[in-house]
Amino acid sequence: MGWLMLSLTIMLAVISAVNSCTPSDRAALLAFKAALTEPYLGIFKTWTGTDCCSGWYGVSCDPTTRRVADINFRGESEDPIFEKAGRCGYMTGSISPEICKLDRLTQLIVADWKGISGEIPKCVTSLPSLRILDLIGNKLSGKIPEDIGNLKRLTVLNIADNAISGSIPASIVGLSGLMHLDLSNNQIYGEIPADFGKLRMLSRALLSRNKLTGSIPESISQLYRLADLDLSRNQISGGIPEQLGKMPVLSTLNLDSNLVSGQIPPSLLTNSGVGILNLSRNNIEGKIPDVFGSNSYFMALDLSYNNLKGSIPRSLSSAKYIGHLDLSHNHLCGAIPLGSPFDHLEASSFSNNDCLCGNPLRTC
Ligand SMILES: *[C@@H]1O[C@H](CO)[C@@H](O)[C@H](O)[C@H]1NC(C)=O
Repeated sequence: MGWLMLSLTIMLAVISAVNSCTPSDRAALLAFKAALTEPYLGIFKTWTGTDCCSGWYGVSCDPTTRRVADINFRGESEDPIFEKAGRCGYMTGSISPEICKLDRLTQLIVADWKGISGEIPKCVTSLPSLRILDLIGNKLSGKIPEDIGNLKRLTVLNIADNAISGSIPASIVGLSGLMHLDLSNNQIYGEIPADFGKLRMLSRALLSRNKLTGSIPESISQLYRLADLDLSRNQISGGIPEQLGKMPVLSTLNLDSNLVSGQIPPSLLTNSGVGILNLSRNNIEGKIPDVFGSNSYFMALDLSYNNLKGSIPRSLSSAKYIGHLDLSHNHLCGAIPLGSPFDHLEASSFSNNDCLCGNPLRTC
């Protein structure tokens, strides 16, 4: 009987040693959990036992090292745990700096919990393997860590929809593998770094709804993979760099609701790649360049609320496609050209100008 108990005990000890994660990883996760409150779904109820590599909601480990590799925590998800609760996630508390002890972490996703406050732990910049840092949709405040540029493997930096302030750290341009940058809807001020064009892998740069000032750095036009540039709803001034219209894959350019001045570079309108162009609500002046052609294809072209003068360019009627056109609230004058892009447009596309006429407005 004695040896049976003994061997059973040894066996259990062996099993639990095999099925446990690194104790320091487990301790770091428990500290992360302790700083958060999740009242509705009970996801932390799965965080029990010694093996943080299996069954702990949102945690996954490297199968060979059994070190924690991913924290994938999303407050909006199709997971059954959400369906059962019949609601999306909500969490309060803060992100404990103890997670920086998970030094094999490749993904840190703590997204859309709406109530998580406090700062982004500065120590995240010391996580050498981090590829994805996604903290969208919380209530995080404070600044982007100054030495964010240390994260040499980072491909995604998403801190949109928080209350982050301070300026964009100069070191950010050192993120040579960064593909997706989303800082939208925060309180970030100051200028976009002049050498932003060093982010050679960048394909999306979403900086809208902040308090950014200064001008659009010329160097952005060197981002030959950039498909989506959104600087809308800031206080950006100065002109639109001519080179933006020559970027090979840029397809969405939103500069609306800023203080942008000067004229529209003709290259922006000839370039068949930019399919969505919103320059609405700026101080853009001069004439609309008469450079449209059979390659011009715009899902949306919004030039409303500027100081554009002159007439609507005739060449616009030779455009291949214009989905949504808004030229309202400018100082345009003269006859609206005839032709296919104009057939489906409503009067509101042309309203509040100085003296436009013709269909769909009054006859000339
Ligand atoms: C362009 O931007 C303005 C102002 O931010 C916005 O109201 C408008 O809906 C946008 N246009 C399009 C076509 O998205």
